[in-house]
Amino acid sequence: MKFVDLQSQFAAYEPEIRREIEEVLQGAQFILGPKGSELEGKLAAYVGAKHAIGCSSGTDALLLALMAYGVKAGDEIVTSPFTFIATAEMIALVGATPVFVDIDPATYNIGAAGIEEAITKNTRGIIAVSLYGQCPEMEAFLSVAGEYGLFVIEDGAQSFGAERNGRRSCGWPHVGATSFFPSKPLGCYGDGGMLFTSDDGLAGQIRGLRNHGQWERYQHRVIGINGRLDELQAAVLLGKFPRFPDEVSARAYMGARYSDRLGDVVGVPAVSPGNTHVFAQYTIRTPRRDDLVAHLRENGVPTAVHYPIPLHLQEAFRGLGYEKGDFPESEAAAREVVSLPMSAFLSEADQDEVIRQVRRFFGK
Ligand SMILES: Cc1ncc(COP(=O)(O)O)c(C=O)c1O
Repeated sequence: MKFVDLQSQFAAYEPEIRREIEEVLQGAQFILGPKGSELEGKLAAYVGAKHAIGCSSGTDALLLALMAYGVKAGDEIVTSPFTFIATAEMIALVGATPVFVDIDPATYNIGAAGIEEAITKNTRGIIAVSLYGQCPEMEAFLSVAGEYGLFVIEDGAQSFGAERNGRRSCGWPHVGATSFFPSKPLGCYGDGGMLFTSDDGLAGQIRGLRNHGQWERYQHRVIGINGRLDELQAAVLLGKFPRFPDEVSARAYMGARYSDRLGDVVGVPAVSPGNTHVFAQYTIRTPRRDDLVAHLRENGVPTAVHYPIPLHLQEAFRGLGYEKGDFPESEAAAREVVSLPMSAFLSEADQDEVIRQVRRFFGK
């Protein structure tokens, strides 16, 4: 059994993916070409944003958004300590300070009340993480941001395809960032990412920043990065995208099926009112997590822990001065969560086996 079944997905889409790749090979334009533009147009329409800008990874998408806002040393960005390192890593990389607020244990996302308490005169923005595949309370974040003059970046690396109150993840003001890492809901065959915004000025700024700070060839107005999405990755994504809406439905079905059959033995994901969940990770929780992981491993069920150490306790962030106990909900989640096999190509038979093994561990 696979944790994420990319082989079955390739088998299902092989002709489309090969055709798209072949066109790139024949055209021999590998960087900033027609496939990237076509993908940007399609995905902008899908999320409901005016602009989409392909970039080299989800991490670089966050970096480019922070650079476009001119975030610098002395600035503070409020975010979650219970996320993948990239979220806070990019804040630190531009010289700013990540300011963490604890998560809501029901959704694993931060809430607007916590954000408001963390705001100081140095706060410039919020990175709202849509962890595991559902958006946080974006409307409330935007209202706090409006009151204090802050920007909101949605880290939608895990939530591409999710909706909240009719709006798609990454389509919220002010800017959305996603990842096409192979195991993500929409994944390429290497690294890739995309930024979405309806702000013309910000989109223009990001386009130049991702290409060495140049808007005209060899005229470098600002310091940028090599942060482009390459044409082969765009081709893979174009080959997969037509079936993506079906995959989103399949993931929701499999997620609901897990929750229905496991809800009496472990904590299952709570989907907030108004939200759909893409289950980039289908993550359960139990105080007996480590023993459950060992049992599942012994019985051929792959699992992963997202994430075992909250960011405020990571060695790389020691300099921020946080201590154990500062964010108890994030620390408890880090001890108790485990993600189960999930993809649109997970068979019901394999899922039944995962369910059987989890229940067996609890003697049910
Ligand atoms: C929440 C979150 N943010 C950012 C990233 C970074 O994306 P990438 O791996 O494409 O750089 C990831 C992906 O691993 C993620 O899960």
